[in-house]
Amino acid sequence: KIIIIDYGSQFTQLIARRVRELNVYCEIHPFNNIPEITADVKGVIFSGSPYSVLQEDAPQIDLARFHQKQPVLAVCYGAQYLAQHSGGRVQASSTREYGRANLNYIQADNKLLKNINIGSQVWMSHGDTIKEIPEEFEVIASTDSVRVAAFHVKDTDTYAIQFHPEVTHSIDGKQLLENFLADICGCSQNWTADAFVETTIAELKEKLGNDKVVLGLSGGVDSSVAAILLHKAIGANLHCIFVDNGLLRKDEYEAVLEQYKHLGLNIKGVDAKDRFLSQLAGVKDPELKRKAIGRVFIEVFDDAAHEVQDVKWLAQGTIYPDVIESISVKGPSATIKSHHNVGGLPDFMKLKVVEPLNTLFKDEVRRVGKSLGLEDFILGRHPFPGPGLAIRILGDVTAEKVAILQDADKIYIDNLKEAGLYDQVWQAGAIFLPVQSVGVMGDERTYENVICLRAVESVDGMTADWCHLPYPVLAKISNEIINKVKGINRVVYDISSKPPATIEWE
Ligand code: XMP
Repeated sequence: KIIIIDYGSQFTQLIARRVRELNVYCEIHPFNNIPEITADVKGVIFSGSPYSVLQEDAPQIDLARFHQKQPVLAVCYGAQYLAQHSGGRVQASSTREYGRANLNYIQADNKLLKNINIGSQVWMSHGDTIKEIPEEFEVIASTDSVRVAAFHVKDTDTYAIQFHPEVTHSIDGKQLLENFLADICGCSQNWTADAFVETTIAELKEKLGNDKVVLGLSGGVDSSVAAILLHKAIGANLHCIFVDNGLLRKDEYEAVLEQYKHLGLNIKGVDAKDRFLSQLAGVKDPELKRKAIGRVFIEVFDDAAHEVQDVKWLAQGTIYPDVIESISVKGPSATIKSHHNVGGLPDFMKLKVVEPLNTLFKDEVRRVGKSLGLEDFILGRHPFPGPGLAIRILGDVTAEKVAILQDADKIYIDNLKEAGLYDQVWQAGAIFLPVQSVGVMGDERTYENVICLRAVESVDGMTADWCHLPYPVLAKISNEIINKVKGINRVVYDISSKPPATIEWE
């Protein structure tokens, strides 16, 4: 495997994704908490950082731990740090070097730059420049304005680059990373979804033996993939619990439960609609709604889990970005909405936790799901928030509002599917606005609520843009909702991006 040392750059996760795309397993660790470098570590990558090496509080690291022991690729801040702490000189550049540049010098026969040609476009993003490098270093690439765009520590496998190979604007970035991973580190590039499935199932068998495991299924991709993996490893010792909180999409509970049974899972459905609704009665504040839902879920889940005798483990569908966030240099970021799953259920469950997907990114979870034979019905679904429709009904939640929203949402989603747009949209949903406006239907004046349609494009939900859905499709959806859903006489479309808006309205 490859270890990526994080100095807090926004690009660190992207480096990890690129390495994984090259079928090499890697892990990110914060610079201030680096694990022991075991024999299976084939190489180390130093990431960039928002800090300047010239700042007093800049992140420090003991270079001797890696340098000349493993192959090292130091990127941006990492490169400057290495130069500065080996007798070179870094200084603030008069202008920030940001954006595209082209390599005008490439050292011949350099292993790191194999198959990369003069003129290759690279992406720079830095405020400091490496002015001088020590004698035992050699410059291996330059651009017009940056002489030390890449260097090599002579007679070692330590390389450094000022530009960012992980962004797509560095046209040969992937080639450079592959050169490092395959030729310099000797990684075999065989870390694929199939390989992951095979080794994970074997590990789970070994770890869990004959123990019983409970897992809460949500209908979403992560918990479903985790369930199938565990099911393949331990069969009926996996006890899945699927809670109907009454806040799912229309007919979703039945459809998903059916699908899970069809997959052979040992699953128990729990109808807790009334319990959730009664606890939500009169609750208007979004965070209080989330808390109420979380609390009831734990109670319901706990009751259901107690029905399984001698259960030892709680399985969760936690994925790698959640783990990175909880251990990152910056620490968990400020809670804007309290929806992080890490930490899971409270102690009173007293179960050991097993998280088979906690090394995977979202797209990898999908690939693993495919390799396990999961159908698009589950794999291709849009993300759906845990608190469900409760946070898509602004203000207090009632059974009546849920029913109205379910009907409107179904018309919306069905039309997206019919128009072939569902898979192009990252997430879509209808929102119930408790605002009344005047309308006219036939000869009658109406005074009813508003449905807002939301559809966004995104990669990971952190940022998002609204989708430019075709007018004819929007027209058809609006028409159908107003004509068929009693209580709605107006439909609007949300044209806000995130930031500054968020995807959900609450
Ligand atoms: P926001 O609204 O923060 O949403 O832009 C980003 C992504 O997170 C989902 N989301 C939630 N998921 N529990 C969840 O499990 C929550 O409380 C929650 N709030 C938002 C949202 O659907 C989107 O995919």
